[in-house]
Amino acid sequence: METTLIILKPDAVQRGLMGRIISRFEEKGLQIVGCKLMRISQELAATHYEAHKTKPFYPGLVRFMTSSPVLVMAVRGIGAITICRNMMGATFGSKAAPGTIRGDFGVSNSYNLIHGSDSPEAAERELGLFFRAGEVIEIDRAVEQWVYDFGSGKPE
Ligand code: RTP
Ligand code: MG
Repeated sequence: METTLIILKPDAVQRGLMGRIISRFEEKGLQIVGCKLMRISQELAATHYEAHKTKPFYPGLVRFMTSSPVLVMAVRGIGAITICRNMMGATFGSKAAPGTIRGDFGVSNSYNLIHGSDSPEAAERELGLFFRAGEVIEIDRAVEQWVYDFGSGKPE
C-alpha cells in the first residue's frame, strides 16, 4: 500500500469543490486516511515547494498557496501516487484532459485546484510536513475484499 499527500488548493476550497474532488478518490476505491483543513504558513509553503525556489512562478505560487485555507489529505491504495497524479491531469486546466480533476474543474494557467506527491520519496517527505504522528490512521475497511482481489492471498 502506498500513501500520498493530496492538497486541495485555495481555489478548490473557495469554489466549493472539496466534496466533488474527495468523491472522485473515494469512488475510485482509494482510502482517505488523513484529512484536515488548514492555512499554510509562509514557512511551510517554502519548505513544501523548495524544489521550485528559483523558478519565476515561485513567488506567485507561495502567495497563492498561503492566500486562503486548503484541505490536506493522506490518500492510500496500491499505486496511489501514480493513480492520483493521473486523476489530477496535466498541471493546468487549460491543457489537462477531460475526465481529470484539473481538466474538468479548471481553465486557469495559474490556479490548478490540487497538488499530489510525484514520487514515493516526495510522498514520505510531504506527509511528514503536513501530518503529525497519529494523524494518518489505519482504517480496517469493511469493503476492502470487494475493492481488491485477495484470491492469491495479497491484494490485486
Ligand atoms: P503540484 O506539485 O502542485 O502537484 O503540481 P505539478 O506537479 O503538476 O506541477 P509542478 O511542476 O510541480 O509545479 C508546482 C506548482 O507550481 C505552479 N506552477 N506554475 N506558471 C507556471 O509556469 C507554473 N508552473 C508550475 C502550479 O501551481 C503547480 O501546481
Ligand atoms: Mg509537483
